[in-house]
Amino acid sequence: MDILWYVVGRDGRYPWDPKWTRPVDLDYLRALTTSIDARGYSGALFATQPNGGLDPFITAASLAAHTRRMRFLLAIHPSIFTPSQLVKLTTTLDQNIGGRLLLNIVNGHTSLAPAGIHLAHDERYRRCDEFLDVYRRTMSGETVDFDGEFIKVKGAKAEFPSLQKPYPPLWFGGSSDIAMDVAAKHVDKYLTWGEPPPETAATIKDVNARAAKYGRKLGFGIRLNIILRDTDEEAWQAAQHMLDSASDDAIAKVQASNSKQDAIGQVRQAAFHGGTRPKSARDLEIYPNLWSGFGLLRNGPGIAVVGGPESVAARLIEYKNLGVESFILSGNPFLEEAHRFADQVMPLLPLDNSWQQPHAPSAPYAWQTAPTPSQPRIDAAAAG
Ligand SMILES: Cc1cc2nc3c(=O)[nH]c(=O)nc-3n(C[C@H](O)[C@H](O)[C@H](O)COP(=O)(O)O)c2cc1C
Repeated sequence: MDILWYVVGRDGRYPWDPKWTRPVDLDYLRALTTSIDARGYSGALFATQPNGGLDPFITAASLAAHTRRMRFLLAIHPSIFTPSQLVKLTTTLDQNIGGRLLLNIVNGHTSLAPAGIHLAHDERYRRCDEFLDVYRRTMSGETVDFDGEFIKVKGAKAEFPSLQKPYPPLWFGGSSDIAMDVAAKHVDKYLTWGEPPPETAATIKDVNARAAKYGRKLGFGIRLNIILRDTDEEAWQAAQHMLDSASDDAIAKVQASNSKQDAIGQVRQAAFHGGTRPKSARDLEIYPNLWSGFGLLRNGPGIAVVGGPESVAARLIEYKNLGVESFILSGNPFLEEAHRFADQVMPLLPLDNSWQQPHAPSAPYAWQTAPTPSQPRIDAAAAG
């Protein structure tokens, strides 16, 4: 198993509450990513918002020189890009950061409207299917003509290749039926937001069966929040404090925004908490050490692993035994909790460090590969 951490432009103890947020700027992000890089994480997911937020490409480009090992998993909405724009960005960045780029393909929800994208749910995925077809073929060195429902290109090519071959690995998050089909056809790793192990096992089985139809095999990853303290009891107290300190207004806002979305993944997350704050945080313990109460406080990934180091490690290992390889984790504040997790849980995990092997040998400089013209030696005597 390998562990990634999480980077977005909003952090603090309770970043959904302005009272508890902290400023995030380049210096803070540098401290965070150098910590991730130094503490055994295989990388970090840089999430994207269609409306505002940090740009993952610019952020990664600004930070990579301060890191040596970690991989940059950058979320992108294909709906907002043309394939050739993404080819240019990924080939350039993958070269410049030494083959440490990963992409997380996400198709968003109704919130793409502020970005001027008004495609319905299934249209976004049909476009994504065409997009990934063109993108993958272009990155693989083909000159591509494509005449689809959404995408029409002529003569698309990548003159400047990526360092990783044939292209930086494609990861993917999306839980609807059509999402799973698009993932099965195109991507390397399927990600799910946290759900209890039985549901996760069913998802893995489903995606595996869909991938087999295309003669493909995918890896799996999971995105979980972590509430880690020295003991289980202290961790549940922390969850309780988190729940108690949220205002009714903050919870209502999250639930209102959830209800406007057309995303199946979000609907599945909301079903684990039902939208109502209980008195006791543990009333939302939906599986040992899994807390759905986190989803009352923020959109997106709403399940937290709550416990002391041994319990948290045991739960992650349970997912690993189902076939999950990559764990994208976060605790707030990101910086302190990245260290706490590295100190207390990482030593208990069977970490696989094979990601540290470069995916591709470091690229030779152009002058090292340029064919040496066979130059006739100038014989001094003959030359007179
Ligand atoms: C691990 C993971 C990471 C995601 N990251 C993002 C993100 O950075 N930005 C975003 O807009 N949506 C993100 N999503 C959400 C997807 O864009 C999509 O809205 C969601 O999975 C619902 O689509 P569905 O109807 O296919 O389930 C992520 C989903 C998963 C599973």
